[in-house]
Amino acid sequence: MPCDDCLSRREFLSRSTLAVAGAAAVAAGCGDGHFGPTALIPTNSRISLKTASLPGLSVVGQPVKIPQSVGLIAVKRTGTNTFAAVSTVCTHQGCEIDVTGATFECPCHNSRFDSDGHVTRQPQGTDGSSTNLPTYTTQYDAATDTLTIG
Ligand code: FES
Repeated sequence: MPCDDCLSRREFLSRSTLAVAGAAAVAAGCGDGHFGPTALIPTNSRISLKTASLPGLSVVGQPVKIPQSVGLIAVKRTGTNTFAAVSTVCTHQGCEIDVTGATFECPCHNSRFDSDGHVTRQPQGTDGSSTNLPTYTTQYDAATDTLTIG
């Protein structure tokens, strides 16, 4: 299934590197008492997982964070055999965003994003702005229940 907004494998790796740099900068201190992610997007460009390992993925449209040890990414089922994936690193200053119902919210300055990663509310009480969350290509093998991201 073509995806005009998805990242290629090369873009995924490139943005992962940027996210690591951004998160490291936040971990060094953004001055507002919040700390950035401690586990970062993996250095390889693909993640594979069994969707059965994340029970929330049985529901269409519900974003589910994958384990932080695997990467800072959320996945949602978009159909029987289709999925979408977005970064969970805030595009404002790199904090890890939370899944709040079917949307995302950043705990640092309260940016909000819809389940597709589009900004629905800009940061509150601080300078700068958020952009849409990066998206990643997904491939799903129903025979093996294997979802590959990136
Ligand atoms: S880091 Fe997310 S809103 Fe500022």
